Amino acid sequence: MNRTHMCGALRREHAGMPVTLQGWVHRRRDLGGLVFLDLRDREGRVQVVIEPDQSDAFQIAETVRSEWVLEVHGTVRERPADQQGSEATGAIEVAATALHILNRAETPPIPIAGDAANDTSEELRMRYRYLDLRRAEALEPLKIRHRVQKAIWDFLDAEGFLQVETPLLTLSTPEGARDYVVPSRHQPGAFYALPQSPQLFKQLLMIGGTDRYFQIARCFRDEDLRADRQPDFTQLDVEMSFVDQDDVLTLNERLMQHVVKQAIGVNVATPFPRLPYRDAMNRYGSDKPDLRFALELTTLDEVFRGTSFRGFSAALDAGGSVKALRVPAEHASTMSRKALDDLEAHAKVHGAKALAWLRREGDAFKGPIAKFLDAETPALLQQTEADGDLLLLIADRWATACTALGAVRLKLRDDLHLVPDDAPMAFAWITDFPLLEYDEENDDWTYMHHPFTRPRDEDLERLESDPGSVHAIAYDLVLDGFEIGGGSLRIYDLDVQKRMFAALGFSDEEAKARFGFFLDALAYGTPPHGGIAWGLDRLVMLLAGAGSLRDAIAFAKNVRGGDPLTGAPAAIDDAQLEELHLRIHAPEGDTQSEDESEPTA
Ligand code: AMO
Repeated sequence: MNRTHMCGALRREHAGMPVTLQGWVHRRRDLGGLVFLDLRDREGRVQVVIEPDQSDAFQIAETVRSEWVLEVHGTVRERPADQQGSEATGAIEVAATALHILNRAETPPIPIAGDAANDTSEELRMRYRYLDLRRAEALEPLKIRHRVQKAIWDFLDAEGFLQVETPLLTLSTPEGARDYVVPSRHQPGAFYALPQSPQLFKQLLMIGGTDRYFQIARCFRDEDLRADRQPDFTQLDVEMSFVDQDDVLTLNERLMQHVVKQAIGVNVATPFPRLPYRDAMNRYGSDKPDLRFALELTTLDEVFRGTSFRGFSAALDAGGSVKALRVPAEHASTMSRKALDDLEAHAKVHGAKALAWLRREGDAFKGPIAKFLDAETPALLQQTEADGDLLLLIADRWATACTALGAVRLKLRDDLHLVPDDAPMAFAWITDFPLLEYDEENDDWTYMHHPFTRPRDEDLERLESDPGSVHAIAYDLVLDGFEIGGGSLRIYDLDVQKRMFAALGFSDEEAKARFGFFLDALAYGTPPHGGIAWGLDRLVMLLAGAGSLRDAIAFAKNVRGGDPLTGAPAAIDDAQLEELHLRIHAPEGDTQSEDESEPTA
């Protein structure tokens, strides 16, 4: 290569050295007799000075524009003490002897240099992602991502794991989302599904004796998108044979410790706290609690049992719960009536019918419902610590009361800045999930993780008689209020797997039709096994301190699942449709093509 150094790599010790650099013009300043260029590449930027006595170079320097691509020959020299900058290359500059224009550039549609870049709309930055990535801030998460993946490979390789790729064109995997499907040209009317995860393949690999598997796997889920969800995303997928839950958790703790150290240089303490699902819900109102701040929920069922306040007794009589959150006076005193209304609105978005509040004043409470609670006042005083403390209360079904008040807890975190910027990362395991949850809408039981999760041995006998009481040997990994991983020990007994399908309402025929290949495999000597998948994009997002998953991904989709850069998804032409045996239904309301709207596949 012509290039001798990366722009961002030059330091004081290079002074006196002849160098050849290649990069983009970040900024040009013309000071009459002197031209300064900031030349930029992936590793940073360096100041280049072109003096008039270098007449060829000077002439070129006067014509160049931002984002042109240049080759610079020159010598590194120390800058005068009063002209040194604070950037990494700030002590030196390159005195140019020759410039070559390698390419010119149109004026970029988004700013690349300066603070204005931060104000550009995200949609526009996604449309011009290749320009956006020229900004160090935009590239940084991808560098972290690279280091995360390298650390994973190094660590797991040393631990005896085998990396195996699994198919992308496959059958549907039940992870709870809709599938993305791909029509088959050879088999009219048949479709592949893109994997929601490699779940069944990794289990087949265990049956195949692979023993310890990992893959950095692309997964596809057609679900409602949020800041922490992408339609195609990446998992670190892991599976191990002959392990119990502790083996999986401790290996993952050591792996995470290694990954975080390598990726961002931070030491992570292990073991991670373990919280049973029910405790996490009761104390934090979430199965992915943010443990960086205290503010815990309490349960006031006993305080209100037999209360004359209908709002609460109705919930308790129906088997529900009264959950409370104490906001200490130091914060509560600054909260206006409007702030309380906003909190109530937030609780309602998360399913609560109402959010009640009581403000302690001396040995009494103020608030709209205070007058109904004379009998409970002594007990409620014990729930507070000081004058001015605020109690926020939700009475509802247990899960609704917990999650709605948990959402209020997070809103308070943000509104009151309860997490300091330098708070240490808060990892935790959530364990002891129920195996199944009741789906009121469809009046049936559905899995909480997936249908291959192993029930606790001691609960198995109740799988048919009392499905709601059966615990799974399943665990989620949580970081700073995000679920960054989930896994379980798996069913390895054919009969138990059949019972599980039956509990989920599959007839024998249905189970056979969908998972026959897997039921077959289970019969041939399946080792006990278990594993986990990490949401790699989410982990990178958090390690990079980014606000959205999109920042952790080179080319992400927007909230509508579209790619503003390529324009995907897009229509395909008639010949392609024909070849795939497809015909497009007229969109609703489109009468023009209604005649030909009969579907074929
Ligand atoms: P699960 O469905 O919990 O488990 O997925 C594992 C982790 O993947 C991440 N994740 C996502 N990240 C970005 N966008 C999405 N749409 C998205 N969906 C999930 C989350 C989640 O914790 N096969 C099982 C794992 C196992 O049992 O071993 C599975 O996929 O961080």
